[in-house]
Amino acid sequence: MPAARRDGPFLNACRRLPVPHTPVWFMRQAGRSLPEYREARGTVPMLEACAIPDLIVEITMQPLRRYAVDAAIFFSDIVVPLKAIGVDLDIKPGVGPVIAEPIRDAAAVGRLRPLWPDDVPYVTEAVRSLEAELGDIPLIGFAGGPFTLASYLIEGGPSKNHERTKAMMYGEPELWARLLDRLADIAIAYLKVQVEAGARAIQLFDSWVGGVAPADYRRSVLPHSTKIFSALEAYGVPRIHFGVGTGELLGLMGEAGADVVGVDWRVPLDEAVRRVDAGKALQGNLDPAVLLAPWEIAAERAREVLAQGRTAEGHVFNLGHGVLPSTDPGALARLADLVHEESAVHAGTR
Ligand code: CP3
Repeated sequence: MPAARRDGPFLNACRRLPVPHTPVWFMRQAGRSLPEYREARGTVPMLEACAIPDLIVEITMQPLRRYAVDAAIFFSDIVVPLKAIGVDLDIKPGVGPVIAEPIRDAAAVGRLRPLWPDDVPYVTEAVRSLEAELGDIPLIGFAGGPFTLASYLIEGGPSKNHERTKAMMYGEPELWARLLDRLADIAIAYLKVQVEAGARAIQLFDSWVGGVAPADYRRSVLPHSTKIFSALEAYGVPRIHFGVGTGELLGLMGEAGADVVGVDWRVPLDEAVRRVDAGKALQGNLDPAVLLAPWEIAAERAREVLAQGRTAEGHVFNLGHGVLPSTDPGALARLADLVHEESAVHAGTR
C-alpha cells in the first residue's frame, strides 16, 4: 500500500478549497529548457525515452530540484499511447509528431485498436516509482485531447489550418465521430493507467482545438471530451482541460466535465471567470514569452495574473502555454518563488 498523502496547495486549489499560497507548476517544465534534460536524454530518441522508466522518473524529477513547483508533470507525450497501439509514428526534433500513414478513411479508423494497460507497462512502472519519490507533491498524468490527436493522425503531422481534419469533421461526420470515439477510449485507458498507478490529477491537452468554432466544438468535439472526463470522475482526482487559443471555448471546455479550466495568455483570468460556469477553478496564464523579457517586466505581469486569478474560485498559476525552449531556468525559479511569496500575503483573504 502506498503511504497516505497530504493534499497540498495544488490539489486544494483545483478543488476550490483554501490554500496558504497560490500553487504553481509550468506546462513543459520537464524538457528542453533544462541542460540536465538534454544531458539525460543524450542521443536517445524522444519516443524511446518515453518508454524507459528510469529516464521518465529522472526527467520528471528534474524541474522539482530547481523550482519550488507544487506539482510534477509526467514525462511522456500525447502520442505515446498511439505508438503503443502500433501506429507508425515518430517525434521529429523541432517538428513534432509525424505519422507514417495518415488516417483518412474508414478502414484506417477501423485499424485503431483499443489501448490495454499491458501496452504501456513502462508508464505504470514509472508512475509508481514517482509516486514513492514525490511524497506529498502530486503527479499530474495527462493525455492528448481527441481533436488534437485526430489532427496529428489525419494531417500526418503538425498543421497550421487543420485542413484535412476539418474537412473530415464537416464532410464525414460519422467517420469523424467514430475516430474521435476511439481516441477518447484510448485517452481514457491511458489516463486510467496513470491514475491507478498513483497520478493524483490529470490534464487533457486538447492543444489545437482552438481552431474550432463553438457550435462545431459543441457538436463534434464536446461529446468525446465529455466521455473522457466522465470516465475519470469516479477516481475523484482533479481533471484539468487545456487548449491554446480557446478563449471562445472556455465555457464549453468546462462543460465537458473539467474541474479546472486551463486558460492561455490571450484571455485575462478575470474575463475567463465570466466565461466559465461557477464551480470551476482556473489554471494559467502568464505569456511564456514574457520570461524572455527583463525579470522586472515578467514579475509585474506575474503579479497581474495573480491579481486576476484572485477573482476565480480556485487558481493554479501556470504559463499560458508550455515553457519556451530558450527560457532561462533561473527566471522560472524566480517566478515560482514570486508566486508563492506574493500570494501568501493574500492567503485567507479570499
Ligand atoms: O514538462 C512536460 O510537460 C513534459 C511532458 C510533455 C511532453 N509533451 C514532452 C515533450 C507533455 C505534457 C507533452 C504534451 C504534448 N506533446 C502536447 C500538448 C501540450 C502542448 O504543448 O500544447 C503536444 C501538442 C505534443 C506534441 C509534441 N511533442 C510537440 C508539438 C513536440 C515539440 C516538437 C519540437 O521539438 O519542437 C513534441 C516533442 C516533445 N514532447 C518534447 C518534449 C520534452 C521535445 C522533444 C525533445 O526534447 O527532443
